[in-house]
Order: sequence, then structure tokens, then C-alpha cells
Amino acid sequence: MEIVRVNKVKKVYQMGELSFTALCGVDLVVRTGEFLALAGPSGSGKTTLLNLIGCLDHPTTGEIFLEEESIANLSPDQLADLRKKKLGFIFQSFNLIPVLTAFENVEYPLIINKVKPAERRKRVSKILSEVGLGDKLTNFPHQLSGGQQQRVSIARALVHQPALVLADEPTANLDSQTGQEIVSLMQQLNQDQGVSFIFATHDQRIIERAARVVNLVDGKIA
Ligand SMILES: Nc1ncnc2c1ncn2[C@@H]1O[C@H](COP(=O)(O)OP(=O)(O)OP(=O)(O)O)[C@@H](O)[C@H]1O
Ligand SMILES: [Mg+2]
Repeated sequence: MEIVRVNKVKKVYQMGELSFTALCGVDLVVRTGEFLALAGPSGSGKTTLLNLIGCLDHPTTGEIFLEEESIANLSPDQLADLRKKKLGFIFQSFNLIPVLTAFENVEYPLIINKVKPAERRKRVSKILSEVGLGDKLTNFPHQLSGGQQQRVSIARALVHQPALVLADEPTANLDSQTGQEIVSLMQQLNQDQGVSFIFATHDQRIIERAARVVNLVDGKIA
């Protein structure tokens, strides 16, 4: 099955009188279960494309389909619902909530999805031990290393069993050894749970680990 279809997508950012075309006619199909790297130089449009696929922004022209359904005519509420049920996000800067423990950060998407407390405890404990943090449940983000914080954010992205995880430079703030470990973890979760991954990166060693690489250059797929 197709998880994502990007059809002739153009994105123009408008800044007062000035405009900038960040994507100019991108076509891309991602199949369910893929582990796909989005590569390309700084400014080539990787984050722009991830934001469009993640329903965080709208294309200027063209259309995006998630699981073969167009997202063009969904209301803001329907988009929010789709994001919280079907998508997981991993960011360069981890974006954990500083006043919540590792456990509570991972529990949060389940609360939003109205999962019952007993089921939440079971799922949060399970995924945190899968990412190797079974002994850090009560640590706050500042009591964790960068790699451990990114593991928490991977657990948070996956705990509600999304169909697709979007990761924007997930290893950029990590040393190269830890970055490799984080990619291995994502790869393992991709294989074990069948979750599709699209991740943007400039890191050549990480690009080499992807099953498929899509190169963006000046807003076009090269
Ligand atoms: N909100 C915005 N308003 C105006 N221009 C923007 C906006 N967001 C991005 N751009 C421009 O669009 C282009 C693509 O940006 P984007 O963030 O998608 O690149 P990127 O490939 O993710 O780069 P990097 O590797 O540095 O993260 C850049 O030239 C950027 O300056
Ligand atoms: Mg970017």
C-alpha cells in the first residue's frame, strides 16, 4: 500500500512583497513500511516537504495523499485528528516537555488519544524499555543525555502506533556514534513494527543506512 503520495507539489513562501519558491513540482510515492532518507543541501526544501507531509502546512499548489486519501479538503480539526492518530514526529532538538518525566513525555500522546490509564502504563513502560530506557522512567529531560532524550522522543513518536514517523534531522544534535545508534533504533522499530519512516538528514553516514534515498536539490527531486 501507499502511505504517502506527493503530487506535483509546489510551495511558495510569501514574505510581504517577496516570495520564495521552496518546492517546485515535487512528485514522490512512499510505500507502507519504507525507511526513506530525504537528503540534500541546506535550503533544498527537506523540512518544507516534511511539514507538508506532516499536515503542518499546506502546499501552494499540488496535492498530498496519506494512505491514499487526499488531505487537501480536510478541516483544521480533521488535520489535527489525523496528526495525532496516524503520525509521529521526531525533531532535531528533541522537543521534550521539560517539566515532564521521560514516562510522562511518552504518555502524553496516549492521553491526547484518550487511552485508559492502565493501558497507558503498559504501553509507555514497554516502549521505553524497547528504546533502552526502562531504568530512566522518572528522569526529567535535563537528567538525560542527548542520545537518551532522543530515545524518549522516538518512544513518544511511536507509542500511539502511528502509520508514519517523520523525523527532521534526528541525529544532528548528537555525536556520530550516538547518531548511528539512534538510526539503528529507528531501523529496528521500522522492521519490527512495520512503521514507515521518512527522515531528513545531511549526514552521509546516515544516508547510507537508508533503504531508499530521495535527493532534493533547489526544491526539486534530483
Ligand atoms: N517560513 C518561511 N518563510 C520564507 N522562506 C522560508 C520559510 N521556511 C523556509 N524558507 C526557505 O525555503 C527554503 C527551504 O527551506 P527548508 O527549511 O525546507 O530547507 P532544508 O532543506 O530543510 O534545509 P536545512 O538542511 O538547512 O534544514 C530555504 O531557502 C528557506 O530559506
Ligand atoms: Mg531542515
